[in-house]
Amino acid sequence: VTIFVPRDAAALALGADRVAKAIAQEIDSRGLDARLVRNGSRGMVWLEPLVEVETDNGRVAYGPVKAGDVAGLFDAGLMQGGGHDLCLGLTEEIPFLRQQTRLTFARCGITDPLSLEDYQRHNGLVGLRNAIAMSQAEIVAQVTDSGLRGRGGAGFPTGIKWKTVMDAPGAQKYIVCNADEGDSGTFADRMIMEGDPFVLIEGMAIAGIATGAAKGYVYTRSEYPHAIATMTEAVEIARAAGILGPSVMGSAHAFDIEIRSGAGAYVCGEETSLLNSLEGKRGTVRAKPPLPALQGFLGRPTVVNNVISLASVPVIMERGAEFYRDFGMGRSRGTIPIQIAGNVKHGGLFETAFGLTLGQIIDDIGGGTATGRPVKAVQVGGPLGAYFPRQLFDTPFDYEAFAERGGLIGHAGISVFDDSADMLKQARFAMEFCAIESCGKCTPCRIGSTRGVETVDKIRAGIEPDRNKVLLEDLCNTMKFGSLCALGGFTPYPVMSAMNHFPEDFAPAPMEEAAE
Ligand code: NAI
Ligand code: SF4
Repeated sequence: VTIFVPRDAAALALGADRVAKAIAQEIDSRGLDARLVRNGSRGMVWLEPLVEVETDNGRVAYGPVKAGDVAGLFDAGLMQGGGHDLCLGLTEEIPFLRQQTRLTFARCGITDPLSLEDYQRHNGLVGLRNAIAMSQAEIVAQVTDSGLRGRGGAGFPTGIKWKTVMDAPGAQKYIVCNADEGDSGTFADRMIMEGDPFVLIEGMAIAGIATGAAKGYVYTRSEYPHAIATMTEAVEIARAAGILGPSVMGSAHAFDIEIRSGAGAYVCGEETSLLNSLEGKRGTVRAKPPLPALQGFLGRPTVVNNVISLASVPVIMERGAEFYRDFGMGRSRGTIPIQIAGNVKHGGLFETAFGLTLGQIIDDIGGGTATGRPVKAVQVGGPLGAYFPRQLFDTPFDYEAFAERGGLIGHAGISVFDDSADMLKQARFAMEFCAIESCGKCTPCRIGSTRGVETVDKIRAGIEPDRNKVLLEDLCNTMKFGSLCALGGFTPYPVMSAMNHFPEDFAPAPMEEAAE
């Protein structure tokens, strides 16, 4: 019998190691014939630690399990998938999971993340093998035809980026995986690195073969120690198995990967700042052009792609561009791992084709707020994303539909707020966040964010509120159009959406409150 306990950081934070230890002790003391596998997370964070048992009918889930529950679970017949208060039935039948279309996360939570055999048993390396049999142009055409767009946030067509690098002159090229997942409420990159690291390695190797790059870097955050450890071990395993190295799976292509960690600056998720950091310099933004695709790492042509973009390539190369582009709507093709977080009942990762409405995601899938109070606003796309009120909940999850309504999908993180949220405070937070994280290179962001905090404070204090609201809008426009990168350029989204959609929160507070 195989019992699964996740090794994912979210599960660990909720006590998964203690649960695993208790299970190992019970197996030992009861003399049971059982094997414990530390899998990735299924993404249902409110059920973590989620323990699963392999039965003849499929995996049976229990959660959220505490170490103190373990003996009782064995007494109730855990080994046979027996009933218990914590039993959730067959894992695949849990509505949150059943309603998903898992392409990028197909293996996450199912396999042992560091077992190459397990990876291959679940279609791993098929995409890479197919790629090796193709020409560079054919691989790039597949990725272009699939409609895959950058999942880091900007949604730039991945195939076109690869083509720019493939066509760029020069013998030395690089693949840089942006794993500096800094958006609030996002964890898709981390889940892949911890739950299915080989899919990222495979995606990077395909990118290397397609563009003629022999070296790849995964740039991740020091706040992700488990992801760093898992990726490092996975790279070593892949190297020992000949998947990475001078001859990728016996082919004429060389490709190897190095894992690097940043020192924890939000702006290092911006690609040029990331490249500076990777080169050992201070993480400040470079002016574009030149594009990294032409002059990136060490001035060489470089593909900079997000983890999810790269991890979506193997399934495209395995099943074909047509298969992937069949999912989705408009120009948003394929699937997107939506990360539902904040004040929400069912928080977690939900991979689905583009096109669900925001309301379906928050109310039906997320189950509304954790506090049970009405949803007031949701912020989509991290700290630089717009706040959407309920009136906009009919917006479909699609790059263009969100842009049309003054928002952005970004890295697909959603933070939910109930009616106790103070939207002026959220606007202030956006300006403050920008002031703290600004790299300081350009004036609208460096100075504007600090002036922004002061202006919001004046509005709250009732100091010339009308004039200061106009000033805030003017400041936002200056930041939006005058900033060098998205940090200063997108901070106006949360600020202006908060002010436009929740004007009542921007009314001056009564004197006592303002003095607080
Ligand atoms: P961008 O629109 O400047 O560029 C998008 C990508 O396309 C870049 O990699 C750029 O180099 C590339 N590109 C543009 N034209 C090209 C061409 N002709 N050939 C080849 N490549 C080309 O956007 P940027 O500033 O890179 O990203 C902004 C986004 O980042 C925002 O939408 C935001 O959602 C997202 N973001 C994500 C975060 C995360 O944690 N994942 C954190 C903060 C922001
Ligand atoms: Fe740096 Fe801010 Fe300017 Fe971006 S917008 S380059 S973070 S100062």
